Amino acid sequence: MCGIIGIIGKREVAPLLLEGLRRLEYRGYDSAGVATLVGKGIERRRAEGRLDNLAERLEREPLSGKTGIGHTRWATHGRPTERNAHPHATDKVAIVHNGIIENFHELRDELVAKGIRFETDTDTEAVAHLLTVSLNDGATPEQAMADAMDRLRGAFSLAVVFAGQPDLMIGARRGSPLAVGYGDGEMYIGTDALALASLTRRITYLEEDDWVVLSPQGVRIFNQRQPVERPVKETALSGALIGKGNYPHFMLKEICEQPAVIGDTLQSFLNPLTRQVQLPKLPFDFATVPKITIVACGTAYLAGLVAKYWFESVARLPVEVDIASEFRYRAAPMPDGGVTIAISQSGETIDTLAALQYAKSQGQICLAIVNVLESVIARESHAVLQTLAGPEIGVASTKAFTTQLTVLAVLAIAAARARGKLTAEREAQLCAALIATPAKVTEIISQEDAIERVANAVVKARDVLFLGRGSSYPIALEGALKLKEISYIHAEGYAAGEMKHGPIALIDENVPVVVMAPLDEVFDKTASNVEQVEARGGKLVLFSNASGIKRLGGRAVASMALPETDPFTAPILYAIPAQLLAYRVAVMKGTDVDKPRNLAKAVTVE
Ligand code: M6R
Repeated sequence: MCGIIGIIGKREVAPLLLEGLRRLEYRGYDSAGVATLVGKGIERRRAEGRLDNLAERLEREPLSGKTGIGHTRWATHGRPTERNAHPHATDKVAIVHNGIIENFHELRDELVAKGIRFETDTDTEAVAHLLTVSLNDGATPEQAMADAMDRLRGAFSLAVVFAGQPDLMIGARRGSPLAVGYGDGEMYIGTDALALASLTRRITYLEEDDWVVLSPQGVRIFNQRQPVERPVKETALSGALIGKGNYPHFMLKEICEQPAVIGDTLQSFLNPLTRQVQLPKLPFDFATVPKITIVACGTAYLAGLVAKYWFESVARLPVEVDIASEFRYRAAPMPDGGVTIAISQSGETIDTLAALQYAKSQGQICLAIVNVLESVIARESHAVLQTLAGPEIGVASTKAFTTQLTVLAVLAIAAARARGKLTAEREAQLCAALIATPAKVTEIISQEDAIERVANAVVKARDVLFLGRGSSYPIALEGALKLKEISYIHAEGYAAGEMKHGPIALIDENVPVVVMAPLDEVFDKTASNVEQVEARGGKLVLFSNASGIKRLGGRAVASMALPETDPFTAPILYAIPAQLLAYRVAVMKGTDVDKPRNLAKAVTVE
């Protein structure tokens, strides 16, 4: 959500800002803009909608200047119009902002009482005026920012340029990420290392409440008005790593990367020779943990739901999984010695962060499973396990999900061993099943014809039901989520056994019912539910293995046979056709697969 880039450069910055914004597109946005310092003034170009609109605008009305800031905006306060697009400016400053200024009404009233006229509906404009009032009162830019940090409430990251001061830029962050990049006689600021990937690999990640003064010579960082030192890190990201390659969409590229990234993730957590899990040292002992609480949002929450089945059945360890935005406000009592696991691809999701902070305040030991190691959720946790998915650009989460499942699977095995619930033989079997996963995922991805048939059975539907039992239930939910987010078809996931308690009323010949039915201990129960669907003329779409399809697929309008697997790893494998189905349907419908409407990749507001 919202992306920031800023450059103090030696070159014309408008094209560089635009390129940086393209690298931030994946976060989700609905308008964009840039501002540069020109002579003693500030000039801006802004546009509604896609970055191409901004690029056209810049072509018609080029922008000169070697210092500037850019922004992709995901509207929170005020419609996504050009007027509300960032940067917001006064005669003294231009500012870009990610997050929400929670006390902006109060600030606005105060500023209006001083005779200031607001031009936009945004919360951000209040910050531009707040800084301007300080500057007009004689404050230096640094003092103005330090004072503003005391006044602002909420979560934000900011970048500000000052009219007539091309060698100065100030950034600040609270609860929202911001990184500084070091160039050769140039300095950069950006939401994340991806935004800066084509400019530099030398990055400093700012800490909570840091604000930073950039000049072409370097940076000074402050926290609570005191100078602080932050390390410079070399990031592995390069511009090339985050391209689409020969794929038409990032989502397809990321689906196809899954055999490799699941393999990489497994390699860092288990020994293929001994077939044993090998985790880094964790700050708790599973043998004595009374309960695990998992908090996450969206697809990451569904990974947590699968993990509940694993931890409870294999390790006999009670697990509570909650949607972070619900958990954070319900004042849940938490047991002494309990462990909280926060799962997040981005490591930025504001609700997951807040849920984690609540758990910490209740004395829980917090473990983060994140894809972005430098993220705020990782840094707020006592321990971190990284999913080695690499940058995920498509808004629909795919490889992040299956690598989250991979980490959670090894964690459940480790817990089971520590609690004496697993023989060495069974551990070796489970590890072998995991090690076999990448090859099986490749096999599934190559079944293009089957996916095409399944997609044809769904593409014209208005509503689709997804059913699954046991650990396939979260995969049914994930299948429905994927389909609705990128194809805009209404889809719901249900526990197969729950269908007859309500959703069965929806079934007719127009509603495809997609059933996830691996050959596991509840297969026969799922089979009964399939019969109930067929008895009502439902349009069955079946994912199972060959024998499951032989048994149930006779009347299916489409089916796909998945490789045989130990039921333990079935959720990882069955996630793949759910992703491919959603992808194919979205392509058939011609939607914007990588940037579906209204969605953002990292949800940094409540
Ligand atoms: O970055 P996170 O994993 O914390 O993001 C959580 C959700 O916003 C995310 O999984 C979302 O549901 C995806 N768009 C699903 O494809």
